[in-house]
Amino acid sequence: MQKPQSIRNFAIIAHVDHGKSTLADRFLELTGVVKAGLHEEQYLDRNPISRERGITIKLAPVRMEYKYKVSSIKYKEEETKKYLILNTQYFILNLIDTPGHVDFSYEVDRTLACVEGVILLVDATQGIQAQTISNAYKALDKDLVIIPTVNKIDLPNADVERTKKQLVDFLGVKEEEIFEVSAKTGENVEKLLNAVAEKIPPPRVGTSRDLSLQQSLIFDSYFDLHRGVIAFVRVFDAELKRGVNVNLATANESFQILEVGYFSPDLKPTNILSIGEIGYVVTNLKDIHKVKVGDTIVDIASGRDRSLAGYKKIKPMVFASLFPTDTNDYLNLKKALEKLYLNDSSLEFSAIHSKALGTGFRIGFLGLLHADVVHERLEREFGLSLILTPPQVDFNIENKRFYEPWVKILLVTPEKYLGNVMQICLIFRAKFITMDNKNQIILHYEMPMSEMISDFYDKLKSVSSGFASLDWEFLEYREVEADKLALLLNGEPVEEFSEIVVRERSLEKAQALLKRLRELIPRQQYEVKIQAQYRGKIIASERISPFRKDVTKKLYGGDRTRKDKLLEKQREGKKKMKMVGRVEIPKEAFLKLFKVH
Ligand code: GTP
Repeated sequence: MQKPQSIRNFAIIAHVDHGKSTLADRFLELTGVVKAGLHEEQYLDRNPISRERGITIKLAPVRMEYKYKVSSIKYKEEETKKYLILNTQYFILNLIDTPGHVDFSYEVDRTLACVEGVILLVDATQGIQAQTISNAYKALDKDLVIIPTVNKIDLPNADVERTKKQLVDFLGVKEEEIFEVSAKTGENVEKLLNAVAEKIPPPRVGTSRDLSLQQSLIFDSYFDLHRGVIAFVRVFDAELKRGVNVNLATANESFQILEVGYFSPDLKPTNILSIGEIGYVVTNLKDIHKVKVGDTIVDIASGRDRSLAGYKKIKPMVFASLFPTDTNDYLNLKKALEKLYLNDSSLEFSAIHSKALGTGFRIGFLGLLHADVVHERLEREFGLSLILTPPQVDFNIENKRFYEPWVKILLVTPEKYLGNVMQICLIFRAKFITMDNKNQIILHYEMPMSEMISDFYDKLKSVSSGFASLDWEFLEYREVEADKLALLLNGEPVEEFSEIVVRERSLEKAQALLKRLRELIPRQQYEVKIQAQYRGKIIASERISPFRKDVTKKLYGGDRTRKDKLLEKQREGKKKMKMVGRVEIPKEAFLKLFKVH
């Protein structure tokens, strides 16, 4: 059991790639959790895709025991002599590494609800970026102590002074309060860890004022085949112990605690998780969806079941369909999704059927990166070959009126690119809200989410030579003129190529789609008419002229076996084709079409 006074709960927040995981590794080495050089880089970030892409997807908490030498000068009163006293103080530092990518910003939110302070890490070669700002706002909002830190000072192109000035302007801190480190070489990292012990306050005790409320906030969970759901918790009041009967306040589900423990960083059982601590609880519950992030564990004996503030259901923001290229793989895909679902409660899916692509799933994702990662994991970890349709937003339709989701966006750009960036925003139907001009330009806009998930981000990067950065959050649904853009092949609608489109975009979307389809659909034995229909009118059309492919013609009726072989080949080719209406489309065409997005 730990005294709260010796506990420090903290997180590292930063823009993507500014060095959080690297810094966490140095901390692990300094505290002896891992030996320097023995492990590969980024110990906390053990998800293989996350490593390969160099982005943190899943946060991993860790508990470090730290002996901190406090040097202080004391005066012996009677002799007025100075003595240097070296005090060794013992700290428990609980670090939660957070994902930097905006799709996973909900993970940052719940992490921040569990800590008292943060290191705000800024890459000295890039300065303050969009997620630096949005994450710092979140920390300020929760009244957390912020330790401003400039990272990557070892790099020749590091502009430490400029980055510090940005932090002074942004946070109103003094220059001398800012730490300068290199997470890579380890320079000044020990000083920073000392600052965590010194500056971040110990856990607040009894925040609910009623100590009979035994509450712990769940900030993550995963499924273990043998022991059920393992919940990651921050204990706010009282304690958690093995054998105690508890209740999940929001889910109203009871269980007896099988085990509690710490992250070292692997699970290490202990007797008690006491006030202020961060650890895990083995629930023995078999359904991860009952153990929701943001829910509260309450001791049943307390007779109360109020949840801690901050519970928010994660809502998917973009939707896409996933089909196995081999239709026989449907059940394998189902099993794979169910398995992923066990550890990713933000994933939503339901079965759908497509005439052309067979049975598959419609899936809700947190954002484009999330969609990409899930797609890749399914293919790689489960050996599936899949077709993912372009992610789209969800329109609300009520009484034939369409409502589309809007997002608030925050852009950070060097002044040089301001004109370009504003131009791009205009093209993507964004509405300007405010601008802040200090060292970097900070722009606030509101824009339809459908525009943001089209190629807005790529365009933004290209017009700013990669310097502009973006952060977003959901705002609200707003009414918009929209309808289904239906794609017809020889007069028959094809669902797979149809989508709801706002009026302003209908013509350009129709023309682009038709152009691609004309390239991808092979000639048939009859003419193929491709049309786009919007609000009852054909707004674009294309034709593919017929082509009679007689593979045996050049054989002059001669060699029978060769002729048979060719016909066989042709039949095989046909198997790979999909009949869409009366038109044959190779699966390749779907793949190519959907890859463009
Ligand atoms: P996300 O988890 O995706 O948000 O990234 P992150 O903030 O954890 O960044 P990460 O630690 O993965 O570092 C990004 C890149 O910067 C890696 O290639 C690191 O090796 C490099 N890096 C991190 N810190 C330093 C540093 O102090 N100096 C130098 N030269 N490189 C660094």
